[in-house]
Amino acid sequence: MSLEIRKISKFFGGMKALDGVSLSVETGEMICFLGPSGCGKTTLLRIIAGLESADGGSIYLDGRDLSSLPARKRNFGVVFQSYSLFPNLSVAANVAYGLECRRWPGAKIRTRVEEMLALVHLGDHARKLPHQLSGGQQQRVALARALAPEPSLLLLDEPLSALDAQVREELQEEIRRVQQHLKITSIMVTHDQEEALSMADRVMVMKDGRVMQTGTPMDIYRKPENSFVAQFIGKMNVLPAQKEIPVQSHVAAEGSRPRVIGIRPEDVQIACCSREEGTFNGVVDQVVRLGNLTRVSLRVGNIMGGEKDFTIVSELQGMGDGLEVGASLPLCVQPENVRVLEWH
Ligand SMILES: Nc1ncnc2c1ncn2[C@@H]1O[C@H](COP(=O)(O)OP(=O)(O)O)[C@@H](O)[C@H]1O
Ligand SMILES: [Mg+2]
Repeated sequence: MSLEIRKISKFFGGMKALDGVSLSVETGEMICFLGPSGCGKTTLLRIIAGLESADGGSIYLDGRDLSSLPARKRNFGVVFQSYSLFPNLSVAANVAYGLECRRWPGAKIRTRVEEMLALVHLGDHARKLPHQLSGGQQQRVALARALAPEPSLLLLDEPLSALDAQVREELQEEIRRVQQHLKITSIMVTHDQEEALSMADRVMVMKDGRVMQTGTPMDIYRKPENSFVAQFIGKMNVLPAQKEIPVQSHVAAEGSRPRVIGIRPEDVQIACCSREEGTFNGVVDQVVRLGNLTRVSLRVGNIMGGEKDFTIVSELQGMGDGLEVGASLPLCVQPENVRVLEWH
């Protein structure tokens, strides 16, 4: 089902937790809300779920206004960070619970529970109690339980935050696989940019209750519209606009906010070129060798004639043989790799 969020706002006392948030989610799409802690992700998800009311704006599910529909009638599947399974019920009974509440016939419930547990690879664990499972397995049960009643929307609030890195990565793939298999419209909240980029069809980046940018992972990374998005997703050199660094006119940002320029570290090439447009010198400040990647910080402030020293970070493939602190090297940036960003 499609979801249309229009200008949602929410106050807690005098504090504006959401400030005119709009988003269209297409049928079968997976959207991630991404942003730092406190930016309003959970509040927005809870409003969509009907667990919290908005102070302004509206939400439509397949064109139908949701405001008059209480949470229990929305038939949305919700998964939270804490698995919140019933500790005294078996895995199968946990998954069956929502179906019993909805008065599904017994035979249909048994089939559905089996189907759901197979989907999340827990077929052999049906009779166990939650405490007999690992954290990752418990979250799989929570996912199966949320999906069992054939919800029209799947809402996940930081479902993987409590899990260690390896399990987390497995479950990222698992959730995405299940979501695509069922073609269920889904929204997942996360503060982890890698998680958002790897799982979502589109990412909505939030800050202070506002949408900073919505786009595909590729768009968000390649074409960030402001310095916040640029620095929250991946690494970005953000510098004041200056004449030494040429910019292609078509990437110039519109709007009235102050502008800066952004260059990804992998787009700063060292000693790559003879003197030409886009070449300037930097003095190596630090070299960090990460094996497959070398991160080099270079001071360029004096060359640009500004009052402040600027540091540009370059990332090179490999071990950066021969790079030494103190060396003065030509740097080169292609104009198409320089983005003009609004300052946020
Ligand atoms: N029930 C509440 N009462 C008062 N303030 C709240 C409540 N829920 C959330 N907030 C505040 O609203 C802001 C957004 O919170 P939240 O949506 O939980 O952020 P996120 O999920 O992005 O970390 C925060 O400043 C938080 O402290
Ligand atoms: Mg939250």
